[in-house]
Amino acid sequence: MTVADRAAAGFRQRYGTEPAGRWAAPGRVNLIGEHTDYNDGFVLPFALPLRTVVAAAPGPDGRWTVWSELDDEPVEFGAAEADEPGGVDGWAAYVAGVVWALRAAGHDVPGARLAVASDVPVGSGLSSSAAIESAVLAALVDLGGLDLPAQAWPRLAQRAENDYVGAPTGIMDQSAVIRGRAGHALFLDCRTEEVEQIPFDLDAAGLAVLVIDSRAPHRHADGEYAARRRSCERAAATLGVTALRDVDVADLDAALARLDDDETRRRVRHVVTENQRVLDTVALLRAGRVRDTGPLLTASHASMRDDFEITVPEIDTAVEAALSAGAYGARMTGGGFGGCVLALVDAEAADPVAAAVTEAYAKRGFTAPGTLTVLPADGVTRLG
Ligand code: GLA
Repeated sequence: MTVADRAAAGFRQRYGTEPAGRWAAPGRVNLIGEHTDYNDGFVLPFALPLRTVVAAAPGPDGRWTVWSELDDEPVEFGAAEADEPGGVDGWAAYVAGVVWALRAAGHDVPGARLAVASDVPVGSGLSSSAAIESAVLAALVDLGGLDLPAQAWPRLAQRAENDYVGAPTGIMDQSAVIRGRAGHALFLDCRTEEVEQIPFDLDAAGLAVLVIDSRAPHRHADGEYAARRRSCERAAATLGVTALRDVDVADLDAALARLDDDETRRRVRHVVTENQRVLDTVALLRAGRVRDTGPLLTASHASMRDDFEITVPEIDTAVEAALSAGAYGARMTGGGFGGCVLALVDAEAADPVAAAVTEAYAKRGFTAPGTLTVLPADGVTRLG
């Protein structure tokens, strides 16, 4: 059964009626631009063909009931729980968080029954949380006929995650999941929220992006993410800028000389050089030079490993094995401390590169990685 059919079947089974509609939102990978979003910088993610689907219909009593195929017990909540961050926890907090963010923005959110099915793996760094937030948001906006222009959706979904769920993430994931377009990468200026769809036609270039799920256990990922963010904010304050985005790569050495500890200098160097790598990648893609972006991807990885210190042995092993097997470039994608690696490869090399990574893993005694090839897909959509 497709994920859309599973959501509809789950709805029927749970509620005994037909859903009014189904809304789908994808996971994402980030081609390049890591830990730049909360520094007001640049990112270049794209939406994945793996999707989360929400089947929904208006519900009785202005309350919300949500069922997920991952957890047979449905969760029910009303305005009191939705209005209090922490009032709903576990996976359903992503749903309640969207209700909260909509209500906080003054919208009259209709009560609803929802059923969630997903092909986006949870905990792999492919933004399963942004996917469920965005699909639920689309469903509630449609069901309630809410007046909320699509440009406002990413911020609203981000607020659900930051302020209701309590994860201090940036705007990248929700933007990719909502604004992504098939055949394109999304060039996003995280300060202005301006976007440009950059053609990223892998098929036409005979290329593929191989996504490798490192299957590494997330080690302290939340605490480390928050620590990196604080360190960047402190450095920006020391340098007297609004955000590290305001440090130009040409002024990097002068900026580093004003910081007094080596760790902070390395954190800043990552962010400033990473912003430049995004701009350079965009320039190459605009010129149709997709293969030539490989070294930038690999340089991004080295910067995350050595300067930002957010990679783990499984991730570094996957990157090295992919490069040795002929990938044009490879890097960790997402917040770090586990998650996925992406490798830019010739389409016919995807299988051999995946096999080489699996072999390198076996030699190190790591749990076998997951691998899949992906093309950029469309963002959130109503399926009918
Ligand atoms: C996570 C966050 C994003 C972004 C990335 C790192 O995916 O949710 O906002 O900060 O990490 O680039």
